Amino acid sequence: MVTKSENGGARVGVLTGGGDCPGLNAVIRAIVRRGIFHYQDEMMGFLEGWRGVAEDDTVPLDLNAVAGILPRGGTILRTSRTNPIKHEGGIDRCLRTLAKHKLDALISIGGDDTQSVAQQLHARGAPIVGVPKTIDNDLAGTDFCFGFDTAVSIATEAIDRLHTTAEAHNRVIVVEVMGRDSGWIAMYSGIAGGADVILIPERPVDIDDVTETLKQRHHRGRYFSIVVVAEGASLRAEHHELAVTSAPGKDEFGHVRLGGIGNVLAREIEQRTGFETRAVVLGHIQRGGSPTAFDRVLATRYGVGAIEMVHRGEFGRMVSLRGNKIVSVPLKDAVGRTRTVDDDLINVAQALSDRRGAGTRAAG
Ligand code: F6P
Repeated sequence: MVTKSENGGARVGVLTGGGDCPGLNAVIRAIVRRGIFHYQDEMMGFLEGWRGVAEDDTVPLDLNAVAGILPRGGTILRTSRTNPIKHEGGIDRCLRTLAKHKLDALISIGGDDTQSVAQQLHARGAPIVGVPKTIDNDLAGTDFCFGFDTAVSIATEAIDRLHTTAEAHNRVIVVEVMGRDSGWIAMYSGIAGGADVILIPERPVDIDDVTETLKQRHHRGRYFSIVVVAEGASLRAEHHELAVTSAPGKDEFGHVRLGGIGNVLAREIEQRTGFETRAVVLGHIQRGGSPTAFDRVLATRYGVGAIEMVHRGEFGRMVSLRGNKIVSVPLKDAVGRTRTVDDDLINVAQALSDRRGAGTRAAG
């Protein structure tokens, strides 16, 4: 059980780390409202993820701070990809900050990277509860992360719009979506948008398979095509792999910066088929703006779930969605593993493919 502050509630810190995503503010709002209204908690926010904890950079989090933020994208606490583990004495500095503020709990809202730091701090005795966040939807330990549904909706709308212009010009349009090492956004938006080919990191395919599918569509009178490619997908061409990064080096969590495969693929398709081809990179548009109703509800459920966990003393765990139930899982089971697209979903996409068993999907 948590210790109590002067007014009977707990002292709770909150941070948002890693890439932002729609719904972060909805989680913060739910934590603050539930904590203050129901438990008389005192809340404080750490700015820019783990940087704010390592450098003791805080803001008050009261009812005024969260007023009107439910539909707003981004995060009022801002975010960063700071990894205190990579900085000399970083973890000790974080522990000192938590002790200085006499925090009974810290709620870390973030994806795999953010929760891996949370896990290490918990192993050193810090009372931490995690909340799963990422548009990539690749975090183990939960069925869905908030932010994913919004990213998929944005990508699907883009694919719908690209369909009409592709058809008008008899073009192939390659749409590159985010997702890091998993193909969830590509798969969901590709199926929802009726893409003709969907390429994901989980199933590298030969570029000739892609072009054959497009040619078959062409032969049956469909002179345009939409290809959705996940930024982390790789393609085999003449016995070598084509995987694309957009910048040299890695971030503090060891990730390369992905992006650019859409343009490479578009060039290959045009050269190999003779079909006029364009590439569209959706990029950070997928992370911006207001969350969908689904994400607002999921984020709110996670926020309430996290504060309940604090008051049950369930530390070292992450709030999670299993089926339609909010539960919790150990942080150590959630970090260090990428949750990849499952075979059922891939089979659904392939079931509609012009070329059966080609690892790609085509629909009319
Ligand atoms: O993890 C979320 C994500 O949007 C990935 O899909 C993408 O590869 C990465 O973040 C982009 O990171 P940044 O915002 O640092 O460019």
